[in-house]
Amino acid sequence: MRKIKLSMPSLVAARNRKGEETRYVTYKLDNKYNNLGKDKTYYIFTYGCQGNEADSEVISGILEQMGYTRAIEPYASDVVLLNTCAIRENAENRIWGVLGNLKGVKRQNPDLLIGICGCMPQEENATNKLLESYPFVDLVFGTHNICELPKLIYQAYLTKAKVVEVISSQGYILEGTPKHRESSHKAWVNIMYGCDEFCTYCIVPYTRGKERSRHKEDIINEVKDLVAKGYKEVTLLGQNVNAYGKDFGPDYTFGDLLVDLDKTGIERIRYTTSHPRDLDEKTIQAMANCKSVMPQLHLPVQSGDNEILRKMNRKYTVEEYLEKIKRLKELIPNISITTDIIVGFPNETEEQFQHTLDLVEKVQFEGAFTFIYSKREGTPAAKMEDNVSEEVKKERLERLNERVDYYYKKGNERFLDKVVLVLVDGVSKNNKENLCGYSENLKLVHFKSSDMSLVGKIVKVRITEAKTWFQMGELVSE
Ligand code: SAH
Ligand code: SF4
Ligand code: F3S
Repeated sequence: MRKIKLSMPSLVAARNRKGEETRYVTYKLDNKYNNLGKDKTYYIFTYGCQGNEADSEVISGILEQMGYTRAIEPYASDVVLLNTCAIRENAENRIWGVLGNLKGVKRQNPDLLIGICGCMPQEENATNKLLESYPFVDLVFGTHNICELPKLIYQAYLTKAKVVEVISSQGYILEGTPKHRESSHKAWVNIMYGCDEFCTYCIVPYTRGKERSRHKEDIINEVKDLVAKGYKEVTLLGQNVNAYGKDFGPDYTFGDLLVDLDKTGIERIRYTTSHPRDLDEKTIQAMANCKSVMPQLHLPVQSGDNEILRKMNRKYTVEEYLEKIKRLKELIPNISITTDIIVGFPNETEEQFQHTLDLVEKVQFEGAFTFIYSKREGTPAAKMEDNVSEEVKKERLERLNERVDYYYKKGNERFLDKVVLVLVDGVSKNNKENLCGYSENLKLVHFKSSDMSLVGKIVKVRITEAKTWFQMGELVSE
């Protein structure tokens, strides 16, 4: 198959921050592509973080503007996109697995256009493998050129060649894109893109470009528009939301944005993800004082050992992290704090791992995502010596999860017999007689009801049972 390589990724180029001013670009669909999707359907599989989910809403919006409609059956559609994640090897293995299945699908439906996008193509190894081993993939693009999708699809149709355009740059900010939001009561709102932290294990600063903030007016207007459309909750997104606004100067930062967004009338504000070093007093004050900012925070710690934190380039100590937790609990006594933890970082000793367990006991996180360290080619940690066997890493993960689950359940138990406010999402997956949603503290709550008019509303539920991963409750009549 012929290949049209418009541009290929380079991790070295991605690392290179030239300090250029951020470009702000307003999206507009070229008339030429208006009807390209007429009578055609598309389907997107989304993997990875909320950033990817938000991107998929933009991609869907762009495709629909081109005339495509969402397919019900993914493989009976005209365009299938995989929006991929590169954070760990198992995230990538999943994609290779899906691609293996797609080979047969393409044989049965040769007109199906298959595209790969998101973080994986930003890595040169992954894109090379895509080109060499998966000839049936028609289109490869990355995180920095979603706005070029109409052009890329056009070229793929026109030339019947494999079209590859992956740009490794510091990135820009795209405003004014259409969006197909998946929910009509909660919304993702990007406030910044990229990451400049360069934690030594992490691929994100290479796949997503430099840290850059949207203008506050654009964010505030987006939230006002959501309020007018009846949305109840927004989750502000960024890899390091606490760095919001720092590229504009010291005057207006994340805490200020929270205060301004609180005034829009949106009922619930959440945000993710926070970097502990950048979480400042102004933000904690805003959380405590703004009624709409929910009493819940995901504050990834990664390790409870200072030497490992230093090798990870996290730029804080365990003591500093604990100080921030103390301050959060002082000002927001009801807060639920969750975290991310990596075990088996190169050469992690049993004693260092023990320090992580100690931290879990001290903070009593009400939930945590726990991971075994995964080597990412091109990152500094990939060159570090690692004498910890996979077996030991797995065993550490199990020991950690046992403690994490214990406090996860305890966090759910503290609401027993209390009445909480739940924003109803819909019917529970495992029991069709229940509805479910999230409380202010971001606890998943199931309760008996078949009243679909409650979906999208905030209702009172008394918690009657606490499990590890969720709570059961009963609807409280007004
Ligand atoms: N920007 C966010 C999270 C990004 S990725 C933050 O800094 O908090 C989500 C989580 O994946 C990270 O918090 C980390 O715990 C985990 N992670 C990232 N790179 C990893 C790697 N190479 N191996 C294992 N876990 C990793
Ligand atoms: Fe990765 Fe660290 Fe940036 Fe989070 S803050 S995205 S872990 S480099
Ligand atoms: Fe994965 Fe990219 Fe998000 S690597 S976690 S999809 S930023």
